[in-house]
Amino acid sequence: MRTIMTLNQKGGCGKSTIASNLASYYSANGKSVTVVDLDPQGCSLEWLKARPPERPAIHGIRGWKDEIKIPKDTDVVIYDAPAGAHGKDLTPLLKRVQTALIPVLPSPIDMRACAHFIQDILTAGRVSRDEVKLAVIANRVREHTLIYQSLETFLTALDIPFITTLRDTQNYIRAAERGLGIFEMAPSAVEFDLEQWQPLIKWLNSKRSTPQ
Ligand SMILES: Nc1ncnc2c1ncn2[C@@H]1O[C@H](COP(=O)(O)OP(=O)(O)O)[C@@H](O)[C@H]1O
Ligand SMILES: [Mg+2]
Repeated sequence: MRTIMTLNQKGGCGKSTIASNLASYYSANGKSVTVVDLDPQGCSLEWLKARPPERPAIHGIRGWKDEIKIPKDTDVVIYDAPAGAHGKDLTPLLKRVQTALIPVLPSPIDMRACAHFIQDILTAGRVSRDEVKLAVIANRVREHTLIYQSLETFLTALDIPFITTLRDTQNYIRAAERGLGIFEMAPSAVEFDLEQWQPLIKWLNSKRSTPQ
């Protein structure tokens, strides 16, 4: 069973957006997907509620209050982590997954917060023992801006692979409104975004993203 979490102490960086789009990707590719929402705000479960019945069903679990019982036939579990998780909170979260994806926004506040968070997570036992693979993703990027250049420099210098850059686009918002991900939208509208997801998909499908 493939297990992936979106994780960052900072709120609003795209954890739920990336979690739902990953669920959409695997679901659109014939996988049986379970989404575990660990955030009491319940964004991922709200997203599932909006999902049209004719789309492949994605199982949802209110992980912040209910027992986390993954259905046996699940191929991929996507965990959407709550904001604020840091320090000792990370241990039980990291125990659940093979891979944790850390989205970061091009903003000085987010980058500073991320630097602390990364220091924190790199000292977590499971990460130092290589039992969880981490990656960072630049999210909500407007290209050719100075702040994006700073973010790129910052992310490239980390000891964690910097996998891809996702642009700031209404496509994610339009998809989310309908309980879909960009992988389920009209390809002509999301062509550029699909391209930006390719390095992430490739990495997630490679051995580099799972503990050996
Ligand atoms: N790449 C993007 N382009 C446009 N809007 C985005 C993008 N990523 C996230 N958002 C929006 O930013 C807000 C915060 O994203 P969200 O995924 O809820 O973050 P988190 O789960 O980390 O708090 C949401 O309104 C979401 O729709
Ligand atoms: Mg969220």
